[in-house]
Amino acid sequence: MMEFVITADGSKTLYHPGIGEHYHSRHGAVQESRHVFVGMGLEHCVAQSPADSLAILEVGFGTGLNFLLSATHCTKHGRRLNYTGIEAFPLPLDTLKETGYDAYVAPALWNAFLAHYEESLEFPQQVDAGNRLQVAPVDIAQFTSGHAYDILYFDAFAAVHQPEMWSAETLKHICHFLKPGGIFVTYAITGQLKRTMKALGFTVEKIPGAPGKREMLRAIKTP
Ligand SMILES: C[S@@+](CC[C@H](N)C(=O)[O-])C[C@H]1O[C@@H](n2cnc3c(N)ncnc32)[C@H](O)[C@@H]1O
Repeated sequence: MMEFVITADGSKTLYHPGIGEHYHSRHGAVQESRHVFVGMGLEHCVAQSPADSLAILEVGFGTGLNFLLSATHCTKHGRRLNYTGIEAFPLPLDTLKETGYDAYVAPALWNAFLAHYEESLEFPQQVDAGNRLQVAPVDIAQFTSGHAYDILYFDAFAAVHQPEMWSAETLKHICHFLKPGGIFVTYAITGQLKRTMKALGFTVEKIPGAPGKREMLRAIKTP
């Protein structure tokens, strides 16, 4: 049975006993999300692009923490957000209510997220004025979309537990949905991952990781 665990920054994560891994870094769930996905992915994109809207695709939607923090950032910076999360095993609404992530976002966004979560598993939902959410309840291999995304948050469980998520075949499939010039970010970096991303036509950067991980990977799809 899944259980909540308090991480080093005081925010909660979930432990998945079947996989043998936590949903976030035990060094700080919110800290990791802010650094890896919002900081190195979204902020990087916003700093480079004057566009008033952007689209994010996330692999492994889980608790929705990355959506909540990204929506908060986009609202603050006057960008409209179109967010798609892929999640093969969607969490029940009651579990999301227990994450305590309301402590990190505006009450209106939190309440709107909870109100729209279940419907977002079926249709795209306008969560609030600027933020749109859809959660695709499918295995990554089955995901398909007519959209092209500006940023891909790759938040799968580690390769040691789920190697198929990090295979060249899976990465090629999912990176197909990223725009030319689009940004791929993930919390990890290995020699194999760098080689795979280069072979897929990405420019690879090794950048400082969240606390507890020296480095992480950011890769830009060659235009
Ligand atoms: C590291 S957790 C992601 C944590 C999440 N981003 C959050 O903030 O809560 C990995 C997620 O990938 C999902 N997952 C596992 N296998 C998958 C698959 N084959 N396709 C899509 N999602 C998968 C898990 O259910 C889990 O929610």
